[in-house]
Amino acid sequence: MNAQDPLSDLDDWESDLLRRYPQPDSISSPDVQQERNADAASFKTTDPNKQETEFRNYQAEARPSVKEFYRLNHSLQTVDFVQSRRAEFLPLRRTRMGIWEAMEFLNTLVDDSDPDTDLSQIEHLLQTAEAIRADGHPPWFILTGLIHDLGKILCLWGEPQWAVVGDTFPVGCAHSPKVVYHDFFRLNPDWNDARYNTRLGIYGEHWGLDKVLMSWGHDEYLYHVVKDYLPIEALYMIRYHSFYAAHRERDYQYLFDDRDRKMFEWVRRFNPYDLYSKSDQRPDVERLRPFYEKLIDDYFPEKIDW
Ligand SMILES: [Fe+2]
Ligand SMILES: [Fe+2]
Repeated sequence: MNAQDPLSDLDDWESDLLRRYPQPDSISSPDVQQERNADAASFKTTDPNKQETEFRNYQAEARPSVKEFYRLNHSLQTVDFVQSRRAEFLPLRRTRMGIWEAMEFLNTLVDDSDPDTDLSQIEHLLQTAEAIRADGHPPWFILTGLIHDLGKILCLWGEPQWAVVGDTFPVGCAHSPKVVYHDFFRLNPDWNDARYNTRLGIYGEHWGLDKVLMSWGHDEYLYHVVKDYLPIEALYMIRYHSFYAAHRERDYQYLFDDRDRKMFEWVRRFNPYDLYSKSDQRPDVERLRPFYEKLIDDYFPEKIDW
């Protein structure tokens, strides 16, 4: 294990999200299911009597490797770091690939964990997309589920885990106490930088998230790769799906403009599919492939810049 990469599997971070935001007891009625999907935030209103069963599968504390991952992420994601990564990756001149090709490339990511029990990256993407499709959502929404994690290919270009996955948050202003493991931000040089450590920092009240630098990771990167091809709702889902302090905890409202407020309803709609669509039933990749290749073709050219 590399000291910069404490997680044995990139998905350990996502498993830890399930500890923080456990799935409610299974709901069988389609109406309730739909309501559940309509508002991810309602997951937080847990009946105290139910808590024990809801939490039974999850540990109360994050695993030490996950905690170490957050220590690295929170101490190293500075304004300077984010700017350096944007300068490195956002010209999008690494390669040209199609979407399915990128999915296969992401699938070459080899983790240390047991390959027989863990889903491959393609399987997670297909499960997310299939859950969205099963609920009758429009094609662009299904496609968003299919591609939302493709930015994780950053790992294959040598980026450390803490610069690819993890909760995202604005840099250049004070860190919200609602960001998980907030205390680790004390180790971040920006914590003591007077330009960056006030509530608004380098931004103005309600300037809008488009003017806000987010911590660097797979969300922001993929947003830039696909921004010319998808509707704005899809782009918000992609760009902010790991911004839990805003979409789940509803903090950072002082940076939001009217469009952000409206669009975050879509981010909230997307979140349960990302978190709760994982199942042991492995999707049949080859059977599903023609449907998804057609869907990709409807929105994307054969190859795009990465
Ligand atoms: Fe993700
Ligand atoms: Fe995901």
